[in-house]
Amino acid sequence: MTEALLKVDKLVKHFPITGGVLGRVVDKVHAVDGVSFELAAGQTLGVVGESGCGKSTTGRCILRLIEPTSGEVWFEGKNVTAMGKTELRSMARDMQIIFQDPYASLNPRMTVGAIVGEALIIHKLTKTASEYQDRIVELLETVGLNADQMRRYPHEFSGGQRQRIGIARALAVSPKLVVCDEAVSALDVSIQAQVINLLEDLQAKFNLTYLFIAHDLSVVEHISDQVAVMYLGRIVELASAQGLYTRPTHPYTEALLSAMPVPDPQFKRKRIMLQGDVPSPIKPPPGCHFHTRCPIAQKGLCSTESPPLKKVNEGHWVACHLRA
Ligand SMILES: Nc1ncnc2c1ncn2[C@@H]1O[C@H](COP(=O)(O)OP(=O)(O)O)[C@@H](O)[C@H]1O
Ligand SMILES: [Mg+2]
Repeated sequence: MTEALLKVDKLVKHFPITGGVLGRVVDKVHAVDGVSFELAAGQTLGVVGESGCGKSTTGRCILRLIEPTSGEVWFEGKNVTAMGKTELRSMARDMQIIFQDPYASLNPRMTVGAIVGEALIIHKLTKTASEYQDRIVELLETVGLNADQMRRYPHEFSGGQRQRIGIARALAVSPKLVVCDEAVSALDVSIQAQVINLLEDLQAKFNLTYLFIAHDLSVVEHISDQVAVMYLGRIVELASAQGLYTRPTHPYTEALLSAMPVPDPQFKRKRIMLQGDVPSPIKPPPGCHFHTRCPIAQKGLCSTESPPLKKVNEGHWVACHLRA
């Protein structure tokens, strides 16, 4: 087996909540609660789950944009969580992130050329002015934009085009891993498909590895090799995309899949309606986080012990006392 490019081991992130006049820590948000997975070079891991389940926090901890509470992140055999500032800075080039709202992450006062070229200057990746210009043109063309557009400003572009600018900016440093955090979630379905196709082309061309975050299973199905389903800070099921969609095993995955539109109504699944809302991550339920809404939960084990991810099939892991 090849060594994983990225290895996440028991990652935990708790955000402290302060209160009172003294600003003491009164509670904490259990945003990520022991997430582990491995990702091989050139592969895509889709991460899905409802809003607030800890997807973005996981992505940000991997890049050390925020500090994990505990756990480790390994990249190319190096412990990212133990890196000092200098080491981290040189590592930063290898890992890039693309956000959901490209408009918020693109400086409105900078031209597209300057936005895409900024990292070239920071990391001293081009030597002469003409080399710098040429590289920007090359990057814009790589993402399906053209050279003339480099003098324009972000507001002059459509949502899909702005996402392409964000992708060009991420590619400028020739990263190995790209975290796509809801990168297509704000786009119309037809535009979503175009951007996903672009990401797939770029992956093949540059051997990119993606952590592809989305709240919607249908978005990750096409692009992912593996899919991790998260619920309240934990991975409840991790499988190949095919395994997950054909043999969903965790009751939560089943419920998510049952809500997904299918092209052929003959294969329509019976809709499983979950009771109630996602509990607060400030006080997640004891035992299996999902037991309060689980259609098959039983008294005892489910509400007292947290189920570990267990292998149910080759490349298929499930965290459920009753199914694994
Ligand atoms: N900086 C922060 N301070 C406090 N709580 C946060 C912060 N960032 C995220 N959270 C909380 O952590 C949980 C997970 O958030 P997030 O990772 O953004 O979820 P997702 O990306 O899956 O929607 C949520 O309850 C969110 O409110
Ligand atoms: Mg998010």
